[in-house]
Amino acid sequence: MSARAPQRRRARAGATRPPVVVVGAGRLGGALALALKARRWPVRVHSRGEEGRRKAKALGLRAATPEDLRRARVLLLCVPDAEVRAVAETLATLPRSAALVHTAGALPLDALGPPRGRALGSFHPLCAVSSPHDALPGHTVAVSTRSRTLRGLLQHMARDIGFDVIDVPERHRAAYHAGAVMSAGLVVALMDAAVAALGAADIPPDAALRALLPLARSALRGAEARGLSGGLTGPIVRGDAGVVAAHLAALPAEVVPVYRLLSRRALELAGSRLRPESRAALETLLR
Ligand SMILES: NC(=O)c1ccc[n+]([C@@H]2O[C@H](COP(=O)([O-])OP(=O)(O)OC[C@H]3O[C@@H](n4cnc5c(N)ncnc54)[C@H](OP(=O)(O)O)[C@@H]3O)[C@@H](O)[C@H]2O)c1
Repeated sequence: MSARAPQRRRARAGATRPPVVVVGAGRLGGALALALKARRWPVRVHSRGEEGRRKAKALGLRAATPEDLRRARVLLLCVPDAEVRAVAETLATLPRSAALVHTAGALPLDALGPPRGRALGSFHPLCAVSSPHDALPGHTVAVSTRSRTLRGLLQHMARDIGFDVIDVPERHRAAYHAGAVMSAGLVVALMDAAVAALGAADIPPDAALRALLPLARSALRGAEARGLSGGLTGPIVRGDAGVVAAHLAALPAEVVPVYRLLSRRALELAGSRLRPESRAALETLLR
């Protein structure tokens, strides 16, 4: 093997994995930087101040030098949503070869300010990241950009991290993000309503949550294995109007509207699995 082989290999890796600077050493920034580093992407972290730099160093991540910032092909903004515009503005003088990409599901590309000849994008992991050490592979990332080159690069980055990729058209971003919120924070809110229901049976909140979380996980596993309709269990899909009537009578008043609304949705999901007379009885109860 020639003495130049390692150099050529490094050059090839550099060409396929362009330099990325993650801006913000928080939960998501740390997790993405660690995941990219593990896949041998040349990644650096840019922080506002000493505290962020210390955090990045403690994670084994390298701080971006001014030269790293100038050479970056992607500036991946992992800062609070409300700061995206201001942080993008501070990076506006960097070469236009660096794409500016935010990670906020709710924000349009316009939140990055005017393109000024630079590619803009969004890279939003559908994953609740509460620590930089959280694992990202197996989740999905929503990618949005008007640049074909940047799309290819972000898809490459996503595949290397182990994300599945979905494309989000900018005009439908709010609907997309609402669905994402329903699958995360609103599932937690639903669990809160379920804990309140068990409270009506004198079961303390801690014990209720301990009992309900594995139940919820088993329901999600069913949906994962057999799809939403195939994974559906409970009195609605059994067509048991008597049980549903008892639930409505026993639940705390503030939980009844949640139960009623979701039961109507479950009724749609059950589809042709219900006998017409069972469906009619349930429809009357849930009206
Ligand atoms: N965490 C999640 O589950 C998750 C999932 C999907 C998308 N996101 C998106 O990821 C982005 C970051 O969220 P996060 O949860 O990682 O937040 P975070 O843990 O609070 O980290 C944000 C980082 O941004 C920097 N920062 C904080 N205040 C700032 C300010 N005023 N100006 C500039 N920089 C500031 C800090 O890093 P330095 O000290 O290093 O500068 C901080 O560690 C948000 O857009 C969020 O919507 C988060």
